[in-house]
Amino acid sequence: MTLTPWWRNAVVYEVYVRSFADADGDGEGDLRGVRSRLGHLRHLGVDALWLTPFYRSPLADGGYDVADYRAVDPRFGSLGDFDDLVAAAHGHGLRLIVDIVPNHTSDRHRWFQEALASPPGSPARDRYLFRPGGPAGPAGAAGPAGAAGPAGAAEGPPNDWPSAFGGPAWTRLPDGEWYLHLYTPEQPDLNWRNPEVRREFEDILRFWLDRGVDGFRIDVAAGLFKDGTYGDLGGRDRRALHGPVYARSEIHPVYRAWRRILDEYDGDRMAIGEVWTEGPEDLALYLRPDELHQVFQFDLQLAPWSAPAFRDVVASALAAVAGAGAAPTWVLSSHDSVRHVTRYGRPGSAPGLGPARARAALLFMLALPGSAYLYQGEELGLPEVTDLPDAARQDPIWTQSAGGEPGRDGCRVPLPWSGKTEPYGFSADGVRPWLPMPAGWAALTAEAQAPDPASTLSFYREALARRRLLTADLPDGVEWLDSPETALIFRRGPFACALNCGEDPVRMPSGSVLLTSAPLHGDLLAGNSSAWLVPSG
Ligand code: NOJ
Repeated sequence: MTLTPWWRNAVVYEVYVRSFADADGDGEGDLRGVRSRLGHLRHLGVDALWLTPFYRSPLADGGYDVADYRAVDPRFGSLGDFDDLVAAAHGHGLRLIVDIVPNHTSDRHRWFQEALASPPGSPARDRYLFRPGGPAGPAGAAGPAGAAGPAGAAEGPPNDWPSAFGGPAWTRLPDGEWYLHLYTPEQPDLNWRNPEVRREFEDILRFWLDRGVDGFRIDVAAGLFKDGTYGDLGGRDRRALHGPVYARSEIHPVYRAWRRILDEYDGDRMAIGEVWTEGPEDLALYLRPDELHQVFQFDLQLAPWSAPAFRDVVASALAAVAGAGAAPTWVLSSHDSVRHVTRYGRPGSAPGLGPARARAALLFMLALPGSAYLYQGEELGLPEVTDLPDAARQDPIWTQSAGGEPGRDGCRVPLPWSGKTEPYGFSADGVRPWLPMPAGWAALTAEAQAPDPASTLSFYREALARRRLLTADLPDGVEWLDSPETALIFRRGPFACALNCGEDPVRMPSGSVLLTSAPLHGDLLAGNSSAWLVPSG
């Protein structure tokens, strides 16, 4: 009998460190704050936590701009605090995953500073993607207005690729060379064809594995290699970057090498890739037995509130991973997306609709084969904060789109732990958190919800406790049972889950009910709700 590795069915909790808990009273979360709240995570019933970047960083993109991959940013603590956190997490029976950001560094990273101080063509520049400019024209139109090169000729960026956050993906240096940044100009992309870059990241992996981490979440995992011809998109939108950036086969040997490193360590160390592809078949390439253990299945998060849409996502995801012998990894919210309580509401609908659907979606997700990642605050039913003052917004998406896109600050507001007013136990009383917290969150604090059996927090605790008992030995596939068009019912061995995405009640299969997201009326499952049951027969 082979033992199932811990990550295969794990529920992992994403900790956005800056917004989780502030132990040192500077208004920003930190590693000691995370340690102080491990009891919450253990009681919640998750298996592991994933920490977003806490490395030395100017925070041009919330820490996804790393200036030193082996140092903790002083605002988040020290390496000693990190070691204490790993030990404490393990003491609570929790695994700990950290983020690794290999696509780009911060512009303050020693390597990029060296590149800036070195001439075109130098080894220091070869660690990044520097190119001469192109003619001013359609490509130039996407960039800063025709800059004058060293010879004085008008020129534009090397091609018309856009940054994911708005504006061009190239920035020009005074000496006339341009560097590529798929994100902000403060995040120059690395040259993964340079062996020094590969060696460096292998060494960084070992640095954190030696400190006891159980795995890595790989940022922009599909984007490391770029088509060296740098052809123009020619008016097509960002999705056209798929071929030249996000579907490159050179990536796979990198992850095979990483897998060999992970396998050198005991304890089922793992890696999960943030991979955006055009379809689940491409995801499966990363899940081959000698590559990554998991990749996020974002299609569930992207799907509208619709039973046929959810069913399609699940069926195609399961079919795609089955060939690789892998299991899917589900997610409803993250630090990059509008919180699902808000997403599932409809403009003008009753305020309870989003929360009801969010609860229903949780049972649905937790009943599926594979692993699930929760985002901090969803266990409190936190909504997106949509009315942050402009001056408070920090996400580069907001600034790079000149205020056209609100960005991701609304899902990154600090967690409310206790009390009646800001900072709701996130920081010491009287401290202003780095993003303002809404008035009216007193009823959403963990403290207020814990004693209430009807609260979202109690519901999450119960769902996770039952999942732990129930799903470990269930088959990896699902069997779809007949249901009305607006609902879906699937079975995994002796266990079944019903989700009603419609407004009208639907009849449940007969059997004994284990847990519901809303009260049942006889054998009728209300609209926008879900249930777990053991069907009879
Ligand atoms: C994905 C991360 O989740 C996101 O927060 C970040 O902005 C980009 N990658 C760039 O690193």
